[in-house]
This record gives sequence, structure tokens and C-alpha cells, in this order.
Amino acid sequence: MTEKKKLWGGRFKKELDEDAKKFSYSLHIDGCLAPYDIQVNLAHAKALHKESLITDEELKKLEAFFEQLHQQFIKNPGELFGDDEDVHSCIERITTEKLGDLGKKIHTGKSRNDQVITDMRLYLLDEISQIIMKLESVMKVLWQLADSHLGIVMPGFTHLQPAQPVLLSHHLLAHFEKFSRDRGRFIENIKSTDVCPLGSGALAGNNYNLDRVLVAEELGFSSITRNSMDSVSDRDFMLEFCNNATICMTHLSQFCEELVIWSSPITNFITIGDDFTTGSSIMPQKKNPDIAELIRGKSGRVLGNYTALVHLIKGLPLTYNRDLQEDKEIVFDSAVTLEGALTCFSKMLDTIVFNQEAIQESLKKGHLLATDFADYLVKKGVPFRESHEITGKVVLYCQENKKELWDLTVAEFTEFSTLVEDDVLAIFNFDHAVNSKTSYGNTATDRVKNEINHIREVFKWENKH
Ligand code: ARG
Repeated sequence: MTEKKKLWGGRFKKELDEDAKKFSYSLHIDGCLAPYDIQVNLAHAKALHKESLITDEELKKLEAFFEQLHQQFIKNPGELFGDDEDVHSCIERITTEKLGDLGKKIHTGKSRNDQVITDMRLYLLDEISQIIMKLESVMKVLWQLADSHLGIVMPGFTHLQPAQPVLLSHHLLAHFEKFSRDRGRFIENIKSTDVCPLGSGALAGNNYNLDRVLVAEELGFSSITRNSMDSVSDRDFMLEFCNNATICMTHLSQFCEELVIWSSPITNFITIGDDFTTGSSIMPQKKNPDIAELIRGKSGRVLGNYTALVHLIKGLPLTYNRDLQEDKEIVFDSAVTLEGALTCFSKMLDTIVFNQEAIQESLKKGHLLATDFADYLVKKGVPFRESHEITGKVVLYCQENKKELWDLTVAEFTEFSTLVEDDVLAIFNFDHAVNSKTSYGNTATDRVKNEINHIREVFKWENKH
């Protein structure tokens, strides 16, 4: 019988069909788990050593070998890859090629089922830390912009129709809040990921009483899983990750949509740096917000990844099923896409210049102070529904006569309500409108200033601008 290189050749008479092989082999996808897989092998070797399944000398050999293998993978990941089914088979093949029988011993009491999920947990712990750092960079740029532009009043929108004036800083901090919640979600995600499943074997456990706490400590996990069948089938932490990535990409996408609108010459609220925009191959005047558009576009794929994972898992009986191999492409793609988006987003945000004149000019459109006039009438004793009705009529009058609210004389106002007096003129001031919103969380300058200071204290940030 020809010798088979595979991990599971014994009970087979025929090799796997070439097309089936192409279809099912995953090294080109999971090869990036190699550094984690090496770590896992080493931790497992220590547990085997504790149970005297390998000698002191063998453990030393394995330690030196895995260290060297790790370095080799870091230098040139592709170099060691062969015709292997997956990353675990690859590492085991290399170990056996180099260390002979010792390499063959390393798989004692361990299955690829508990190994792959341990690798994935280690991988995600690293990725989540990266993502949290990148999210904090986005939040910091937003905070700096809010801090440096505190005086600017802009139109706030609902339905993309001018609604009420707000501070630009308040608008920026609204996005800050969303990213801050994203950060909180990823911090929670660390807790669900930071649990070690190794020692669960294929599903039932191992026959060697391996010390799972020792293994977890070696790998830096905070705790161990409680049920071996759950250990090899649980993908909840990945679901959470893909869901968190989706929400975060959605927030980025929303903001990018605004950047696209704000950078259009139609509004001209902002100029995005040349380094984050592109030109047109035919229209020489164009400066397109491609990076913002791509972040918006890629958010769809990250949502697709999340739904793919839910659908991958929903029909699976306990415990491991090969379907689960598909989780990797999904999780890797979401992680890489989100990290790229966050990196580009904070850098792009840092290049933005707010065009104050255009923003100020835009305040004149859309009767942004109509609600303040309605509130003025309320303060004069008119019930709000009635003052709303009266204000609506005033706005209609303005539109029909091509006037703005502040163009009207007191005499014109009294046509609509005899309660209007000279003091009405004071409300037609955008700073006044903004600074009247004084409740907690409102857009009044003092409130926003307090928020900016609160963030400065929480994160111990300094504004370099
Ligand atoms: N490549 C496999 C995966 O990613 C590793 C586990 C294989 N286990 C098995 N029983 N075939 O899921």
C-alpha cells in the first residue's frame, strides 16, 4: 500500500478525488492561522509532558523547533505550505518531517476540532484588540475636530431636509457616541472570545486527563470552556464579532454618506484631502470621494458575512461539521475589511477642512428657525399645537413672498398673532437658537463643551490641532 501523507489515510483505499480536494482544501485561507496553530501545538505539548506522554528532552526539542518554525512563518508564510488539507495538517506534516516520531506524537489527545477553534479564538483576540485601537483613533480624530470647531453652527437635518441649527461639534460627537458604543461591544466580545476550548478533543474530551488550565494559561486565556461538545461547536463569539463588525461598518457607512454629501460642490461643506480623493479619467474638474464611497460599499459585504455565518450555523447538529470550515473566510474578511475601513477613515477624517462660509450660507435656507418662532409663541402663552399651526402659515407666507423669517417686520408677524412683539427679532439668530437648547445632551455650546471635556478626561487625550 502506498504511504499516505494525510492525517487520516488508514481506513481509505482511494485518494480524495482531485476536484473534491480542490473544493475542500483550505490552506490558502487558513494558512494565516499558522502562528496561532504553532502556539497551540506547543501548549498542548506541555500538557502531554505533564502527563509524561513526552519526555523533558522531547519537550525541549519541540520548544526549539516551534520557535524556529514560528520565525520561518513570520519571514515567509508561503514558503512552508505544501499540498496540505489545512493549516493543522501543514504544521503536523512539517513537524513530522523534521522530528520524525516526535512529530507524530504531538497529535495525542488533540483533534483538529478543538485545535481550529482555539486558533480562531487566539486570532480574534488579536484582531479585536487591533480594531479597538483603530476605533479609538477614529474617536480621537472626531473629538479633536469637535474641540477645534466649537463655534461653528450648521444646519441639522431630518429626512435630509434642513431642520434646526446645531453645533458642528455636536454633530461630530453624535458620531463619536456611535463609535463609542461599537468600542464597548468589541470590549464585550473579548470576554466571550477569551475562553480556551483546547483539551475538548474531537467532541467528547481526551483519554489522557490533560491539564486544561495549564494549556489555557500557556496560551494566555482567562478561563476554560465547560463542555467539550459545546467547545467544538460554539461559534457564538464569531457571530458576535461579525455582528459587531456589521454595526461598526454601518456607522462608518452612514458617516461616509454624509462626507459624500458634504464634499459635493452642491453643499461644499467640506474639502477632503487630495490623498483620500481621486480624479476622473475623462472629467478634469472632478475630485471624487472614492474612499468614503468604498467604505460605504464594503459595509454591505460585511453584513453579508454576518448573514452567511448565521446561515452556516443554524442547521448544524452537534458537534463539529465540516461546514464550520467556512467560518474562517467570513471572519477573516470581516476583520480585514473593518480594519482597513477604520484605518482609512481616521486618516481621511484628519484631512478634512470645514468650509465655514458655505456652512454659514446654508443656514439661510430652509427656515431653520421656524421651531424657535413656534417656541417663542409658546412662551407668550400660545399652546404649542396652535403656535405650530401659526408658524406654518408664517413659513408659507415667507415662501410665497420669497422672504426669510428674519426679513419680516413685527407688523407682518402681528398679522398672524397679535402676541408678537419687538423681542421676536432676538430669536432670529443661530447662536441664540443653538444656545437655547440647554438640557443635558442638547446642542448648547456649554453642554457640548462639557462633553468635550468629559471625553478629554476619560481618554486622557490632548488635542494636537
Ligand atoms: N480545516 C478544518 C476547519 O477549518 C479543521 C477541522 C477539521 N476537522 C474535521 N473533523 N475534518 O474546520
